Amino acid sequence: MNVINKIISNFINNKSLYMGEKVTMSEHMIQSAMLAEKAKSSNSLICASLLHDYGHFILENPDELVEKKLDGKHEDIGYEYLKKFFKKEVVEPIKYHVLAKRYLARNKRYYNFLSDSSKISLKLQGGILNNNESKKFEKKKYFKNAIKLRKFDESAKKINIKIKSINSYKNLLISQLL
Ligand SMILES: [Fe+2]
Repeated sequence: MNVINKIISNFINNKSLYMGEKVTMSEHMIQSAMLAEKAKSSNSLICASLLHDYGHFILENPDELVEKKLDGKHEDIGYEYLKKFFKKEVVEPIKYHVLAKRYLARNKRYYNFLSDSSKISLKLQGGILNNNESKKFEKKKYFKNAIKLRKFDESAKKINIKIKSINSYKNLLISQLL
């Protein structure tokens, strides 16, 4: 099976809820992509939003686990797998979307906006970045898109909204392959 069909079937088969939220992982990622579209983002950022938590699907399918040492870090697992197939502009913001949360959490308003489970995972992910770490992060090439992706991610947990089908993103996914 080629990678696009595999991704689509993972989206369709996923029924598990996004940690502590009321939407499934698939719904959450599609909502993120819909928000990226609404914000008139580039195709690569829409694609990054759509796949940003793909690492969770890999963790659910141990046969896809590429590197055991990355255990549990879904952003790295997703990145390591997806970078074999997708452009840098797609996979780099995915790699940094957790760091982006740790960066944004320095802002009190942003922190207060986080859901309870997101506050808990923030701690597990290393907590709020300090000044030095923040400056280093700001220098990264895909810093801005990582921040944008994070904001779509944070808002993509709504229930009772019409969700697009994963198949409607097939051409977009194909357009972002290496
Ligand atoms: Fe997410």
